[in-house]
Amino acid sequence: MVAHETHIGKDLEVAADLLARGQLVAIPTETVYGLAGNALNADAVRSIFAAKGRPQSNPLIVHTHSIAAIEDFVLDLPPLALQLLEAFSPGPLTLLLPKKKGISDAVTAGSPLTAVRIPNHPLTLELLRRLDFPLVAPSANRFMSISPTTAEHVLQQLDGRIPYILDGGPCSTGIESTVIGFEQDAIRIYRQGAITEEMLQSFAPVIAASSPGTDALLHSPGMLSHHYAPRTPLIWTSDVQYVASGFPVEKTGLLLFSDKLPGFPEYNQIVLSPSGNLEEAARGLYEALYQLDAKKLDVIIAQPMPDEGLGRAINDRLRRASQS
Ligand code: TXA
Ligand code: MG
Repeated sequence: MVAHETHIGKDLEVAADLLARGQLVAIPTETVYGLAGNALNADAVRSIFAAKGRPQSNPLIVHTHSIAAIEDFVLDLPPLALQLLEAFSPGPLTLLLPKKKGISDAVTAGSPLTAVRIPNHPLTLELLRRLDFPLVAPSANRFMSISPTTAEHVLQQLDGRIPYILDGGPCSTGIESTVIGFEQDAIRIYRQGAITEEMLQSFAPVIAASSPGTDALLHSPGMLSHHYAPRTPLIWTSDVQYVASGFPVEKTGLLLFSDKLPGFPEYNQIVLSPSGNLEEAARGLYEALYQLDAKKLDVIIAQPMPDEGLGRAINDRLRRASQS
């Protein structure tokens, strides 16, 4: 499907004008690039699913520029939700809240809850302020594929399918928002992300994300197991050395946390953070997967990150990328 010539630029007016006409625009956020359309326009919502090749059963996050704007679309903003929004917005936290009628069932995949978030990127915040409607924006990749953290990544994924990519540079956080819901007085994490469990714990008890296949699937269908995946098969293992010894070295990519693997050629190894910093590792994760994928190797072997803070979100993505 090549319906558009895809342009990359920094022109907010072009972006706003296309969106107002029901067209799609890829937008920068602090987490990953989003594929945005008018949340209140049924045709725009439909074409997002088409451009991504995404099943309609997987709902979309509604993006706004302020807490006041969120209140236009949710029936109720419990005190805990407001407290979290005040602490983390704009930022990588997505909240599931009861929707008002204006948000269609096509956006929420039939759920009475809508996901809302205020992204923290100056260009996109300015864009949202100029528009008189909110934007739905899934990550701007084809269904099941690697999330984009640069305009170039978006072009690789969606060239010919959308008219415009608003270029806001590389994403500063690099991993998706944390998706949470509320259960009595607790916070349930549906998708691990840039706001860590540790950061939420000081506000309320936290119920961690269930593995795919459990009841969380019903609440957040996006928790599909095979996801965020390169085309090259990916193995996620703590014994990289042993597993790598079973493949031809020149066709084996290694994705490592802080140290190179001695005895293996350096050209197919990517170390996410030589200083062992999880923020840096998250920022570079998807770029590393794009780079390794472009080498057309037989296999990518990825190492688990420390299972704390942002490491949990990175491990979640690597685990899913490894399940085919
Ligand atoms: O960081 C992010 O959240 C990025 C940027 C662009 O904002 N967006 C993003 O969207 O990652 P997407 O569509 O790739 O992932 C959204 C996740 C999915 O797991 C989806 O199932 C879940 O949020 N979700 C969205 N609306 C929901 C709803 N109404 N109920 C339950 N889960 C929902
Ligand atoms: Mg996604």
